[in-house]
Amino acid sequence: MTALHQILLHRLNSGETLTFAEVMTQALYHPEHGYYGPGPRRIGRSGDFYTSVSVGPLYGQLLATLAQQTFEKLGQPGDFCVIEQAAHEGQLAEDVMNSCEYDYVIVEPNPRYEAVQRGKLAAFGNRVSWVSELATIPERPALFLCNELPDAMPVHLVRWNGSSWNELWVNVDDLETLRLDPGPISTEELAIEIARLPLDLPIGYTTEVGLATLHWLRELASGSFHGVIFIADYGLDHEELYSTERHKGTIRRYHNHQTDDHILEDLGDCDLTTHVNFTRLKEAGEAAGLKEQVYSHQGRYLGKLGLPWLATLEGRPPDAATQALLRQYHSLTHPAFMGRSFRVLLMEKEKTP
Ligand SMILES: C[S@@+](CC[C@H](N)C(=O)[O-])C[C@H]1O[C@@H](n2cnc3c(N)ncnc32)[C@H](O)[C@@H]1O
Repeated sequence: MTALHQILLHRLNSGETLTFAEVMTQALYHPEHGYYGPGPRRIGRSGDFYTSVSVGPLYGQLLATLAQQTFEKLGQPGDFCVIEQAAHEGQLAEDVMNSCEYDYVIVEPNPRYEAVQRGKLAAFGNRVSWVSELATIPERPALFLCNELPDAMPVHLVRWNGSSWNELWVNVDDLETLRLDPGPISTEELAIEIARLPLDLPIGYTTEVGLATLHWLRELASGSFHGVIFIADYGLDHEELYSTERHKGTIRRYHNHQTDDHILEDLGDCDLTTHVNFTRLKEAGEAAGLKEQVYSHQGRYLGKLGLPWLATLEGRPPDAATQALLRQYHSLTHPAFMGRSFRVLLMEKEKTP
């Protein structure tokens, strides 16, 4: 039994009631016993999963090209910067800064992560700075980047009983095993969001509602920077998400590159994640004043972004370093790897008057 499991048992035995969203928040962000709380875990071959960042430096190089395009589009403002949230151990920041000269601002609420990032990025000196929350992002023209952030935000789980939705709450059985039980909807805000879900679903259909992601996007939209927001993550559109094959939702746990739906086991030792509902994210962004610029499979978008670089390689045999970058290009863009399951959403954020 993990330390976090014991903490949750204690809370339940003391009479507290716990939504799945609360348990997922603790499983990911408990400062001592959550998966992400104590500090950045290894991502990549020796970690639990790969991300586009862990594929290699080409991703950062391509996003530096996007930064250049955004800089041009905004009229080459002298105070332009790149902002990143979910910078983890600072790898993407390093890769982007190695390929461009813009300032870099990291939004990092966790001081342990900031300490690791400061160590890794020390050579960039004053080019890189930190803020602890979106509300304190500087008022500058910017490209805002995040890779795999909303998929790591807690969700509520809800289940259709044939005539209405129940929320899933975490309870404990006689053997101290945690289980999910249907119960009332915990908040008015959740009830309002649930009213958007389709009703022609089979009994027992279970899905996620990502209120935390909506809060985050609204806060981002009201931030004081202006420019372009780039969100890359795995996710689905409304029709794909609410198809009958997805009757258990998309919540999964990851450990050692294995994935399953035992989401209440080994809490705090495994990553818990869901697919992003891109249809809802776009709607919420538009409602908050953002304008959709691009929504695409990652492969198509990065494939195009990489064309100028590919053109520079023409006519000469690739050396070992170039061959490594070409393999990364393939991993990021090929539909059988990350090209199709990952999507990118770019939204314009205008200057607030
Ligand atoms: C799946 S990992 C992705 C890490 C990295 N961006 C990458 O692609 O390799 C999710 C990251 O989101 C971070 N995170 C979650 N909520 C955050 C928040 N509110 N602000 C900053 N980072 C956050 C976690 O600490 C973790 O590093």
